[in-house]
Amino acid sequence: MVGFDLLLRGGRLVLPWGEADADIGVRDGRIAAIGDLRSATAAETIECRGLHVLPGLIDAHVHLREPGDPQVEDLEHGTRAALLGGLAAVFDMPNTAPAITDRERLDWKRDHLHGRAWVDVGLYVGASKKNMAELAGLELQPNVCAVKVFAGSSTGDLLIEDDASLEAVMRSGRRRIAYHSEDEYRLQARKPLFTSGMPHRNHMVWRDVECALLGTRRLVGLSRKTRRPAHILHVSTAEELEYLRDCRDIATVEVLLNHLTQTDEAYDRLGGYAVMNPPIRDQRHLDAAWAAVADGTVDVVGSDHAPHSRAAKERPWPDCAAGLTGVQTIVPLMLDHVAAGRLSLCRLVDLMCAGPARVYGVTGKGRLAAGYDADFTLVDMKKQRVIEESWIVSPCGWTPFAGHRCTGWPVGVVIRGRHAMQDDTVIGAPGGRAVDFAEARGAAD
Ligand code: DOR
Ligand code: ZN
Repeated sequence: MVGFDLLLRGGRLVLPWGEADADIGVRDGRIAAIGDLRSATAAETIECRGLHVLPGLIDAHVHLREPGDPQVEDLEHGTRAALLGGLAAVFDMPNTAPAITDRERLDWKRDHLHGRAWVDVGLYVGASKKNMAELAGLELQPNVCAVKVFAGSSTGDLLIEDDASLEAVMRSGRRRIAYHSEDEYRLQARKPLFTSGMPHRNHMVWRDVECALLGTRRLVGLSRKTRRPAHILHVSTAEELEYLRDCRDIATVEVLLNHLTQTDEAYDRLGGYAVMNPPIRDQRHLDAAWAAVADGTVDVVGSDHAPHSRAAKERPWPDCAAGLTGVQTIVPLMLDHVAAGRLSLCRLVDLMCAGPARVYGVTGKGRLAAGYDADFTLVDMKKQRVIEESWIVSPCGWTPFAGHRCTGWPVGVVIRGRHAMQDDTVIGAPGGRAVDFAEARGAAD
């Protein structure tokens, strides 16, 4: 009789090579066996009959705002929201106050997450015009998922908009760089066309298709010139997706849950609570995003969880803060898309496990396979539930998806062999750790 620390019995596994009914045996935080483990014993067993067992889902794009304003969000609340929402890991953006742009702040963040994070955390480091010389070293620091460049301005003060500076960033280092891609010059040039108090839907008129496409063409051009791989975050237009299909030599693609779920009607219904960068657009772009999920153009789906206070969201446009909460709702909403037949569970796992692992070079996560971290998201595809605002853990306390009925719900999470969440309840203490990346190991001894 084989003894495991933990046994997941009778679930339907979403393996990299397809679905299968099988058990999983866990030892020392890793997957030790997959198969018929009927005769095995274990210290703890999770009964998974009727459930799908996915690799622990990863949201590779969240803003947990530390350091910043704990009234809006912090690491403890943001990762608890992630865990209750069915995630096993998140990658945290650097546009905090102050921004994560040097070794000291990076080390602070890594230390800070121990004992506070409920899920595992990968760390972005921000590029600024002042730290370009240090980026090559910073991207190799342990637990760094990527350098993040804001090529168009958004929340915070990180911005690198001109070709010469962008090229200098690309030439300093070698890992894939993650970009916020909107053309800053067009963005600024169009700003005077709008006045305060105009309807919120002007957000997508100001930050228009051309603004996004121009930004992406410039970044891909420079990436090819410098041979530096690019990851274009939150691609929001049909035109960019069409263009990026021919850029697989150099660029990978992220699309947000919001751009797969919301269209411009949201501005009339939600006002400032529909404002984000790049903007929510019309149905044509949503259809293009789904076509790009279907044909493989999209590598990663993320939430871009970006909390702001209600007061900041309720200022008149364009002074209202841009960014929407989403870390707690991305999994239920993606499962609802699965239930509606828009993608398979297998593709969801590709977009939220294998995709992030491939793009950022995660080691030991992203697939159900022997030797990998025992990270699991347990899913009940029959469960129906309505998203309620009262459920939101992030201190800002709102979601643009309140009232959305979902079919399919995450009911459990295991992280490195530790049963961390079951049926809306977090278990034990915050046990999240920093995520490892193949090319971020620090200096060799
Ligand atoms: O809408 C956004 N909000 N887009 C971004 O690029 C940043 C984010 C934030 O940090 O608020
Ligand atoms: Zn973001």
